[in-house]
Amino acid sequence: MKHMVIDGISCEFENERNVLEVAKKHHIDIPNLCYCESLSIYGGCRLCVVENERGAVEAACSMQPKDGLVIKTNTARLRKHRQMILELLLAAHDCSCTTCAKSGNCRLQELAQRFGVRHIRFPNNKPRYEKDYTSYAVFRDPNKCILCGDCVRVCEELQGQGILN
Ligand code: FES
Repeated sequence: MKHMVIDGISCEFENERNVLEVAKKHHIDIPNLCYCESLSIYGGCRLCVVENERGAVEAACSMQPKDGLVIKTNTARLRKHRQMILELLLAAHDCSCTTCAKSGNCRLQELAQRFGVRHIRFPNNKPRYEKDYTSYAVFRDPNKCILCGDCVRVCEELQGQGILN
């Protein structure tokens, strides 16, 4: 059995696809927005970053688990990095959270609260897009898109349609 060390905890692993899955298996939470175990790895949100012994920062979802690997998931540097990513996402987001149907059940909202994002320093210059009601099955509001790629991958990989891009 192979082992790696995550936040000082020895974690055995076998066939996990990446470091994020090893951490999950050992109940170590690494924040993420674009990881889904039934989909391919996209590596777009960069919230799952971890730090290795040499101080290099890498996305845990795209990082191969290796025997003897030592990483940290929650350093001050990583928290600052995550805060900045969330701030940038929210700067390009329709933040009408109080009237949003997903309020209270929204990963972005939850992570923004968890990382103390209360003020967004960047202007929202993103153009407004029309809401898409053309499908009977899916309602799409592009103003809420965080570019996680989940809808695209579900459409292609699970539904086999490849309609969304
Ligand atoms: Fe790793 Fe999004 S979950 S980059």
